[in-house]
Amino acid sequence: MRRVGVLTISDRGAAGEYADRSGPLAAERVTAATGWAIERQTVIADDFDTIVQTLRDWCDAGLELILTSGGTGFAPRDVTPEATRAVIERDAPGIAEALRAESLKVTRHAMLSRGVAGLRGRTLIVNLPGNPKAVGENLDVLLPVLPHALDLLTGRPESGQTHRSV
Ligand code: MTE
Repeated sequence: MRRVGVLTISDRGAAGEYADRSGPLAAERVTAATGWAIERQTVIADDFDTIVQTLRDWCDAGLELILTSGGTGFAPRDVTPEATRAVIERDAPGIAEALRAESLKVTRHAMLSRGVAGLRGRTLIVNLPGNPKAVGENLDVLLPVLPHALDLLTGRPESGQTHRSV
């Protein structure tokens, strides 16, 4: 079992203007694929300081994986990548490259995602786009490598389990 958080970053979601569908979808997909429960899940506004503070808190609390959704595009309020960069200590560019490369096969608009991935201590943070369809497509790429990534990052295999490499 790994310790996972799902953070939706959306002004309108945080204001209650619409129900967040991306966060619940990401949570459901992670649990279905890995069996990991989602320890923290919330919706916050596209505010740089709030994003930084939340990511730092969750890393300090010992979460091993944080998936964010939203705020990766070109809109002036889209600052998720900048906030994530302020928090991570090591870049994990291969993840962001793979997500964009695979997503480009689905839509040219994938090149508009500025999402990053990186490591802070023993926590992996991955930015996903905000659209639920995009979240699903990104997770199709990411989920198969997550168990091995977290085994390496934490320096210990997940208790009693072995993972098939795909
Ligand atoms: N990636 C996939 N796989 N599928 C998509 O439909 N939409 C794109 C892109 N990445 C998309 C995708 C679009 S339209 C945008 S604007 C960017 O992600 C950023 O999304 P965000 O602003 O919601 O974070």
